[in-house]
Amino acid sequence: MSSPATTSTSNKTLLAWVEEMEALCKPAAVHWCDGSEEEYDALCEGLVQTGTFVRLNPEKRPHSFLARSHPSDVARVEARTFICAKTRDDAGPTNNWEDPAKMRATLHGLFDGCMRGRTMYVIPFSMGPIGSPIAHIGVQITDSAYVTVHMKIMTRMGQRVLDALGEHGAFIPCMHSVGAPLLPGQKDVAWPCEGEVNRKYIVHFPESREIWSYGSGYGGNALLGKKCLALRIASVMARDEGWLAEHMLILGLESPRGELTYVAGAFPSACGKTNLAMIVPPQGFEGWKASTVGDDIAWIKPAPDGTLRAINPEAGFFGVAPGTSEQTNPNAMGSMRENCIFTNVALTDDGDVWWEGMGPAPAHAIDWKGRDWTPASKEPAAHPNSRFTAPVTQAPSYSPAWEDPAGVPISAFLFGGRLSTTFPLVFESRDWAHGVFLAATMGSEATAAALGLAGVRRDPFAMLPFTGYNMADYWGHWLEMGKKRGLKLPRIFRVNWFRRDENGKLAWPGYGQNMRVLKWVVDRVHGRADAVDGPLGLMPRYGDLDWKGLAYDPSQYRKITDVRREAAQGEVDGVKQFFAKFGARLPAALTTQLAEFARRVEGMPETWRAE
Ligand code: OXD
Ligand code: MN
Repeated sequence: MSSPATTSTSNKTLLAWVEEMEALCKPAAVHWCDGSEEEYDALCEGLVQTGTFVRLNPEKRPHSFLARSHPSDVARVEARTFICAKTRDDAGPTNNWEDPAKMRATLHGLFDGCMRGRTMYVIPFSMGPIGSPIAHIGVQITDSAYVTVHMKIMTRMGQRVLDALGEHGAFIPCMHSVGAPLLPGQKDVAWPCEGEVNRKYIVHFPESREIWSYGSGYGGNALLGKKCLALRIASVMARDEGWLAEHMLILGLESPRGELTYVAGAFPSACGKTNLAMIVPPQGFEGWKASTVGDDIAWIKPAPDGTLRAINPEAGFFGVAPGTSEQTNPNAMGSMRENCIFTNVALTDDGDVWWEGMGPAPAHAIDWKGRDWTPASKEPAAHPNSRFTAPVTQAPSYSPAWEDPAGVPISAFLFGGRLSTTFPLVFESRDWAHGVFLAATMGSEATAAALGLAGVRRDPFAMLPFTGYNMADYWGHWLEMGKKRGLKLPRIFRVNWFRRDENGKLAWPGYGQNMRVLKWVVDRVHGRADAVDGPLGLMPRYGDLDWKGLAYDPSQYRKITDVRREAAQGEVDGVKQFFAKFGARLPAALTTQLAEFARRVEGMPETWRAE
């Protein structure tokens, strides 16, 4: 086995696994990643040579690259994502399941010889600060240099992780191939992958804590530390070990008096999660500071003092580019000024990047498929799921607490989807079990259009595609966490930035103005703010929010907070239907919560108002 002299490990389990995978995949070479800048630069240069990367203009975007994926390989493939638990019931009704033995046989066939003609990279990585009691180590094997350089930005990786692993440390094996072996003399393509979607496999074995991914080089399919390890496998570990692995941002909020409060928030994809993680306090909130610990994933463990302490297991942002601008998210824009990678955005004539929503369109560009593009073109210049990959530390809102191995104490959980009707701007759960009910029943509309509740996809805890076991058991785990003695439980809130008025227009300005809601949340945490008990939960009246700097009158507030009985009854019916999917595995506490919700709706006036 070849290995640069710069890496070494005495971990026998790791050495044996790599040897076994080499024998199976039959690569032309093996490269153990040391994680150095020199290694990163050499790999990027190699990607430029093979045509995968375009080096961007160093004056506009220093040390940065653009990649264009194959048009068939542009997003996570949920239909090809499997949880191969022992039984179908252990995976539950919201996951794809396959018999583990059958899946192993399929994978063995696919991986046999799949790296012929390619280099096999071995990437030791830490999810979270190295050595933190909340962090865990993974090792990804991949035949993609694109994936390898992403892992350098998205995780802490290389020799220092091998050092932390030591001789006997445990790691989560993450096996990945793009599924495109090269015959002798065959010329490579810029984005090798398996072209047929039914031959792509993103597979998790929760009992043995293994990940096998075949056929895709894109995002969460291929950067296995992210959704596969940090959510699907980690959610199983968290259940077994008494902690939480969540699809949550982590945000620090510091008041002008220096009081620092951390909140974690779960939002389905495309609900402005990165914007909230990087919120800029609006006019009227001078002296407030918001700082970003994480934008996508939180690992949360009980600390000896009873607080729930969170780390962001990632080291980079893999953010959606379209819609990101100096207006919508200046901190995201600031994070990607240099040392970053763009995938599937447009290339401007001066060697920089552009996407829809970034600002004025260039007169000419090269679109994400490599074709000439002008503002008259019918298709967008950037793919709607195009991404920027940037180090967390480059965000102007970066919180140094990101590096704290002890994590940050979480005081509140926020859960929010995109809902144009029914759900108010913000409400708080009455207690922990009610909060679990609110998070479990969370939904989001598939599109920005005003669909009403008919178009809602239930996305419990924003974890629908990311829970590595039966969703009902996951709710049970959250309920159990609430019963642990001595824990300082965070308060739980639902938020909705997307309520629309009678003309279908968004009725809440969102973005930085969401700080008004966050301040009420912080004040609730510290026992300083009032709320009234309504059919959905505890809600602020108009006067309970701070309106300094924004002209928003009580009649506007009513439009985003009034609760109509008919709509609430629709929600009761929808939840009943949704819960029925989980049969006997549904925790009894949630049945009780639903009954209580139904009782309150029955007794409410036609329109309930927080006053
Ligand atoms: C993501 C997602 O890319 O949630 O973070 O889909
Ligand atoms: Mn996400």
